[in-house]
Amino acid sequence: MSEQSGPTLQDRFAATNGDHQSMWKALWDDGTYLPWDRGQSSPSLVDLLNDKPSLITPSAPSEQLTVLVPGCGRGYDVLLFASHGLKSYGLELSSSAVTAAQENAKTSGLNPGLYNFVNGDFFTKDWQADTPEKFNVVYDYTFLCALDPSQGLREKWAERMAGLVKQGGVLICLEFPLYKDLELPGPPWPLREEIYKGLLEAVGFVREMYITPRRYLESGQGSDMVSVWRRQ
Ligand SMILES: C[S@@+](CC[C@H](N)C(=O)[O-])C[C@H]1O[C@@H](n2cnc3c(N)ncnc32)[C@H](O)[C@@H]1O
Repeated sequence: MSEQSGPTLQDRFAATNGDHQSMWKALWDDGTYLPWDRGQSSPSLVDLLNDKPSLITPSAPSEQLTVLVPGCGRGYDVLLFASHGLKSYGLELSSSAVTAAQENAKTSGLNPGLYNFVNGDFFTKDWQADTPEKFNVVYDYTFLCALDPSQGLREKWAERMAGLVKQGGVLICLEFPLYKDLELPGPPWPLREEIYKGLLEAVGFVREMYITPRRYLESGQGSDMVSVWRRQ
């Protein structure tokens, strides 16, 4: 998440007195200041899906795997999973982001039956009327770090992830920002390997891969890691 001139993302969220959901929606409704948007998926995810196809290969030819990308923004990652044949769902708090993702998807050339963008709050279930209750794969990049740790949301994130990933399925995290001083405010709020481990092991995930990506976005300053967590 790089910055432009004017108030930083951190300043804007600090000025909300804790109502961060309204700020995310306001940023998307305005649409002119979206500093996290890289216009593409991280090459770290592109490489993971190419290098570890077993993560997204169904056990039977008749099975179609499902994936959820919470806080999907314009949906680049949703479309990447769809391009691998998964039935792919993007979740966004902001209805303007959902509209932007739908517009972006039209240029992808992908079968529209393979992707779906849903408007809702990750921490509730009311957006799940037209989605599976649980998914084979969930992908987190720049979502956990978008949640203010002082609001107790990290533990709730982990509990919700445990409810959303099928038993035997995987949560893929592109861990970011690992370089950032833990005392600094977000978003993005700083994270560490130990924080992911503490949160996810407590709710029944076992880490089965921990990979230093060979390609990554500059925003991670070369510190991003890919972790793959199996739901027991
Ligand atoms: C830092 S942005 C990342 C967007 C996207 N993953 C990307 O990399 O371009 C975080 C996104 O999470 C969304 N978001 C924040 N809280 C959410 C919630 N509780 N449920 C669903 N989406 C949420 C915001 O609207 C925002 O688009």
